[in-house]
Amino acid sequence: MTHPTTAVAERLEDRIEHLASFNADPGAGGITREVYSPEYLAASDYVRSLMETAGLEVRVDAVGNLYGRWEGTEPHAPRVLCGSHFDTTLNAGKYDGVVGVLGAIDAVDRLRTAGTKPRRGIEVVAFAGEEPRFGQGCSGSRAAIGEFTRADLDQMRDRDGISLAQALSGAGLDPDRLPEARLAGDKYHAFLELHIEQGAVLESAGQAVGVVTRIAAPHDLRVSLRGEAMHAGATPMALRHDALAGAAESMVALERLARASASGTTVATVGVLQARPGAINVIPGEVDMDVDVRDVDEGVRSAVVDAFLAETEAIVARRGLVLTHELIGRQPPKACDEQVIEAARRACGELDVPHREMASGAYHDAMVLGAVMPMGMIFIPSAGGVSHSPAEYTEVADIARGVEVLARTLTHLAA
Ligand code: GLV
Ligand code: MN
Ligand code: MN
Repeated sequence: MTHPTTAVAERLEDRIEHLASFNADPGAGGITREVYSPEYLAASDYVRSLMETAGLEVRVDAVGNLYGRWEGTEPHAPRVLCGSHFDTTLNAGKYDGVVGVLGAIDAVDRLRTAGTKPRRGIEVVAFAGEEPRFGQGCSGSRAAIGEFTRADLDQMRDRDGISLAQALSGAGLDPDRLPEARLAGDKYHAFLELHIEQGAVLESAGQAVGVVTRIAAPHDLRVSLRGEAMHAGATPMALRHDALAGAAESMVALERLARASASGTTVATVGVLQARPGAINVIPGEVDMDVDVRDVDEGVRSAVVDAFLAETEAIVARRGLVLTHELIGRQPPKACDEQVIEAARRACGELDVPHREMASGAYHDAMVLGAVMPMGMIFIPSAGGVSHSPAEYTEVADIARGVEVLARTLTHLAA
């Protein structure tokens, strides 16, 4: 296995640390840098400056996606797009998305410095809003594939009620220019994303790189239970309609159904739960829970969602509650492109890097881009499989090795 030079690793490490300083909630211990926040915009200026230093021609689109272009010897040949995101979820880690953006800049910089002259242009991208500030993730890449109408930008809201359109205006962007954010798929040969695994498969197998073959996708819904808010002391147990107790039963059913799913790869989470009125001496009358169900098998995923809703119907009927649910979003799982997989496989072989082929349990901008161009991903290990947490960690040597594989894969794709 090759050993990346310390100079390369140190520069990446410095840049990761510098990006981590753009943090809205340092007291919490992790990184909070939600898209379009002041910290995100300052980080975007920094990433832009790195792209410029690497000799890339930079542009920002209508939703804040940042592109840096390196022309190939054949300017009209479809280009290779490469990157990830640098927004974070709440109290998150330093590496999710960041290694894919800094890694792409570094890879291109290295190829240029080495005098490589790729036939196809290579464009580095940092997609805005991969994390679900506005309900669903990947808002930047979804805008880039033309999934949104202007009206969607008014409808999509964050937890404080701020619409995506308002957030864009606040960030100095123009929501009315949404159509200009659209990427023409035929102008691109492929999209490649380097990312931390966010699970423990590579670490437990002692492998340095994962070549991703499939990306699991979420089916997200908001489930609301309505009961009766009554006095917690004066109401006997037999006379209650406790919405939160019903939600608890429903959540346990969800966990059981996901564990028993036919694919063995279904995961299900309730990550947001709101109970009202929220007083210790009042029986909760209303509950909203945001449910996330994922799988690489769309049919099995649907079967789990259907069974969950059927069981929840039975639970609410028995408890005298009322159930409503609405779709937050549903993305199709995606297979990575065989040509991109082969380029990454070949790069690992040439660099003597032990790798495995694997599915991604997390979603990524690559999953979205897969609707308009061939795509693939390269994973590097996550210590302990921890991510979306301040404890997220990937050794800099692993990052540097991932960037080497990325650079080599890019030369194959751009040849
Ligand atoms: C991406 O952050 C995901 O939730 O998979
Ligand atoms: Mn993430
Ligand atoms: Mn990510």
